[in-house]
Amino acid sequence: MSFFITFEGIEGSGKTTQLRHLHKHLQDLGYQTVVTREPGGCSISDTIRALLLDPESINMASRTELLLYSAARAQHVDECIKPALKEGKVVLCDRFADATTVYQGAGRGIDMRQLEAINNFATNGLTPDLSLLLDYPVEEGLQRARSRNSSESMEAEGRFELEALTFHRRIREGYLELANKEERFHVIDALGDVVNVSKRITAVVDRFLAIRSSA
Ligand code: TMP
Repeated sequence: MSFFITFEGIEGSGKTTQLRHLHKHLQDLGYQTVVTREPGGCSISDTIRALLLDPESINMASRTELLLYSAARAQHVDECIKPALKEGKVVLCDRFADATTVYQGAGRGIDMRQLEAINNFATNGLTPDLSLLLDYPVEEGLQRARSRNSSESMEAEGRFELEALTFHRRIREGYLELANKEERFHVIDALGDVVNVSKRITAVVDRFLAIRSSA
């Protein structure tokens, strides 16, 4: 049975670490899984990612940014996500179209109806079966993201982390609002140690899998 599961959250919320933990859990349960991320996930989309996250792109217009995220997504959907789902795999994706709704909508102020149309075009109608929002305080998240970037020499990834605190607060609020509206979302309290957060996630995912496999 194929499922499309996405992880969302502010910078430094622990998505990537938690996605790895869930990956291992699903593999232990015998699921065939694919782990991927946005922007990126395949060669063309990774090239677009480098442009988007380059600190040199600081003057990029919001519309350009939106179209580049969407272009990367269209390629990712066609080349990676849809084929994996067709093969019956569980796809775990670090961010998807909800990130566009929140970062480019709540964050940059682009009109939500236009965003919805562009998201639908880029995803070709593909919607996650389950979305996990890792909710985490903005200040702590940015702190974590900054120390990770400097310790791993990932400065080139840091454009969004240079944004003002108020921008990131809008992102957290935007995600919570979206999660409130969409039934497929589960808000995970991402405070606490990695093992405890991972247990919260596996509880939600195991419940989801049990309901889906009995349907
Ligand atoms: P990451 O921190 O998960 O690697 O994501 C890279 C950055 O890209 C992050 O700051 C969020 C941003 N982003 C958007 O603004 N819109 C999008 O559609 C996606 C997928 C990411």
